[in-house]
Amino acid sequence: MADENSSNEKNGNKTGLLEKVTTGVKDDIQALKTDIPAKAKEQIEGLKDPTKTQVYTSIFRHKHDDTPRNRALGVLSNVFLHLHPAKINRDAVRYSYTWGMGGITFYLFIILTYTGVLLMFYYHPSKVQAFRDVLYLEHDVPFGKILRNMHRWAAHLMVIAVWLHMFRVFLTGSYKKPREFNWNIGVLLLVFTLLLSFTGYLLPDDQLGFWAVTVGTNMARATPLLGHEGPFGAQLGMTPYNDVRFGLLGGSIVDANALLRSYIWHCIGIPIVASVLMIVHFWRVRKDGGISGPAQMMLEAEADKPRRGPKAAGE
Ligand code: HEM
Repeated sequence: MADENSSNEKNGNKTGLLEKVTTGVKDDIQALKTDIPAKAKEQIEGLKDPTKTQVYTSIFRHKHDDTPRNRALGVLSNVFLHLHPAKINRDAVRYSYTWGMGGITFYLFIILTYTGVLLMFYYHPSKVQAFRDVLYLEHDVPFGKILRNMHRWAAHLMVIAVWLHMFRVFLTGSYKKPREFNWNIGVLLLVFTLLLSFTGYLLPDDQLGFWAVTVGTNMARATPLLGHEGPFGAQLGMTPYNDVRFGLLGGSIVDANALLRSYIWHCIGIPIVASVLMIVHFWRVRKDGGISGPAQMMLEAEADKPRRGPKAAGE
């Protein structure tokens, strides 16, 4: 008897489920009959005004009427433009104020990275090959001469640009609060820019580079504490075979190890550190309220309008 009851219950459940499925499918078919024409109508309407389609509104998420809000949203919602602030101080875009020197320095760094990678395809950092590779680039590689000279000139220009940038930051007093930290990041960037130049100088392995690096690294002998001829160096046990100069050259003379070390610092070590510092430098410019300057933060469109707020009331 109990068995009969449970089998009846199971059958009842099955029919209930079947009914639910059938009515569900019927409802769906009914809905499709009205939904499909409605969707088709929407699509046709959309073709008349593409800015109303779902595809368009999923990409462009704000209106384009010329209002300050939409202009700000236009910058903020674009992956490339959002790297810039939506509103900036008017002085920031005046070349006579910034000289554009920070931007030019960065641009030259990009050129150096690009041409440097291309040069790496032809250059071997060994005493046998290095100078020959340079001659090969100068005389045989298609566009090799212009490639090498682009790298060389961009390097010279970057050193000039970074000094001028620092000079303008100094002249505009932009090292003061709240930009002291970024000034210090800048000082490190200056040092790394000079180190990039210095390490690159040895790479052609010509007389100019050899003697420049000989003189430069000889100065390291006199480093306080770490050089064997520097103050307190001898007392700390520094000799020509274990001091900072030895570490830089990978030996006691400018030779194959020095060339390899220069190459690795020049192509990997220093560019990585400099890139990280540049990221911090640009981020700090934003965090410190954008480029410094006397002008107010306002859009050109707002410039003619009467000012609001407590200051305006007192005027
Ligand atoms: C690789 C080297 C450097 C790069 C690529 C670089 C890049 C930039 C850029 C693009 C700006 C935005 C404003 C402008 O273009 O003038 C800037 C601002 C600034 N830089 Fe540099 N910079 C470098 C080195 C330095 C050095 C050597 C210093 C100072 C010792 C420095 C200190 C500053 C400061 C304080 C600001 C903010 C200026 C302001 O708010 O007016 N930077 N830098």
